[in-house]
Amino acid sequence: MRSSHSTTDYRLLASQLEALSEGEPAWLPLIANASALLFEALDGINWAGFYLVQPDETGTRELVLGPFQGKAACTHIAWERGVCGTSAATDSIQRVDDVHAFPGHIACDAASSSEIVIPVHRNGAVWGVLDIDSPLPARFSPEDEAGLAAFVRILETALSRTR
Ligand code: SME
Repeated sequence: MRSSHSTTDYRLLASQLEALSEGEPAWLPLIANASALLFEALDGINWAGFYLVQPDETGTRELVLGPFQGKAACTHIAWERGVCGTSAATDSIQRVDDVHAFPGHIACDAASSSEIVIPVHRNGAVWGVLDIDSPLPARFSPEDEAGLAAFVRILETALSRTR
């Protein structure tokens, strides 16, 4: 049974992101505000934010915690590890109904039950991921996936204009 939560107005969310990103020349405030927009707009979530692709001290790619809303979270995620590392390494959306059944899932918050991770591109490569967690099982529907993918496309366009 799907737990109840209200549906998100993704058209409104998209126009809010467009308004917020208009004329913004820097990437950091853009994704900081994007995480705040998402956290306000989506019902039944406990975390929304970004992990960014960066080289570790050996030069190997990893994911590093970026702007987010929610509880303090894991700061470094190895490439290919967990839901976020899988999404980044495979450049694919991961919509996970039950995180406990996902091999290698990293439990930053024990309350999280379902999760969606969407790769974010800049200059033609995976630059980071958008990660959203929910304490509800199977919180994210195919409609949420489509709405969030559209949100990320707007974000990518705005990012391509930033320094
Ligand atoms: N659960 C994620 C880690 C990040 S936190 O959920 C904020 C994962 O398995 O990649």
